[in-house]
Amino acid sequence: MFSSHADYRKLEDRARRVLDPGVFDFYAGGSGDETTLAANEAAWGRISLRPHVLRDVSGVDIRTRVLGQELAGPVCVAPVGYQTLAHPEGELVTARGARRAGALLTVSSRSSRRIEDVAAEAGPWWFQAYVLRDRGLTRELVCRAAAAGATALTLTGDTPYLGRRRRDRDPGLIPDEIFRVNLGDGFDRALAEQASDVTYDDIAWLREVSGLPVVVKGVLRGDDARECAAAGASGVWVSNHGGRQLDGAVATAEALPEVAAAVGDLVEVYADGGVRTGVDVLRALALGARAVFVGRPVLWCLATGGEDGVAAGLAELSEGLAHAMGLAGVTVIAEITGGLCHPAAGRNNVEG
Ligand SMILES: Cc1cc2nc3c(=O)[nH]c(=O)nc-3n(C[C@H](O)[C@H](O)[C@H](O)COP(=O)(O)O)c2cc1C
Repeated sequence: MFSSHADYRKLEDRARRVLDPGVFDFYAGGSGDETTLAANEAAWGRISLRPHVLRDVSGVDIRTRVLGQELAGPVCVAPVGYQTLAHPEGELVTARGARRAGALLTVSSRSSRRIEDVAAEAGPWWFQAYVLRDRGLTRELVCRAAAAGATALTLTGDTPYLGRRRRDRDPGLIPDEIFRVNLGDGFDRALAEQASDVTYDDIAWLREVSGLPVVVKGVLRGDDARECAAAGASGVWVSNHGGRQLDGAVATAEALPEVAAAVGDLVEVYADGGVRTGVDVLRALALGARAVFVGRPVLWCLATGGEDGVAAGLAELSEGLAHAMGLAGVTVIAEITGGLCHPAAGRNNVEG
């Protein structure tokens, strides 16, 4: 389904045909001039690889561990809100597809199905937390996620408020009943919007109230990554929210080497944004990511193929990674080091 960017565009086109145009644009769009949205995909393409030759690659194994949890592979599902706009069963279907593919799932705070119902369908999963203006409500959500079996929290740090997205033209796209699925009725909707005063101190607070490790999503700088680690984060997730927050923000492929160099020895590093092929996954791992997350590709699979589509799309991305690893002369994830990248990629890659 996506062994090349051309295949990915075909999948996206199929999704465009089946989705309501306003929903497609809400999913596909980015903020401002969509500079960062475009930069994400393009930047992976600029990372040249240095394959080995004459290695026995008759068996390639993509299994890995993320926060101590054994996974079938490093391709994971990013948190994406309001999936019932793409499929009547929304997140339930994504959860089933991800479980079949053995992929770690991240469930959004803006899930349009109840957290407990998604958990019942999921394999390994994390919960993506926003700190909401009502911190009591935030606490309730993360505790519900922990009780339902989430193994980590992802604190999204890049969304003190929403980016301005030209393609989100319908203010009524997310009706109140979808917005409130996990929140209940008895409060002012404004209190359930993201707080704009979230700080590094909230990492420890979320850990304490949920009892779960916290991964900070949206990190694009080495100094911030160090702050996160010092504040008790177990991982940092290099992301610019798929080009939906600060337009002009650096592409994730360009930010990843700096973040990995800053904290790669201290905490786990992940990446998302424009990852479309198995080769892109290989590039991200070579630049220092332990796992990658995909957002829009999963939405397109959900819209066009439901559970089978999600399972097949994720399996194909993992198969693409295994194929690329063999061609690069590596057989296990631990062998994917900076040495696979051309020096221009900016990481210490003299060794291995
Ligand atoms: C429609 C849509 C909704 C999203 N909702 C959330 C969300 O609720 N929480 C969050 O942390 N990130 C959210 N994201 C960002 C994704 O988690 C991820 O960072 C991004 O989609 C990765 O880029 P990609 O779509 O190019 O793979 C959303 C992205 C999209 C496209």
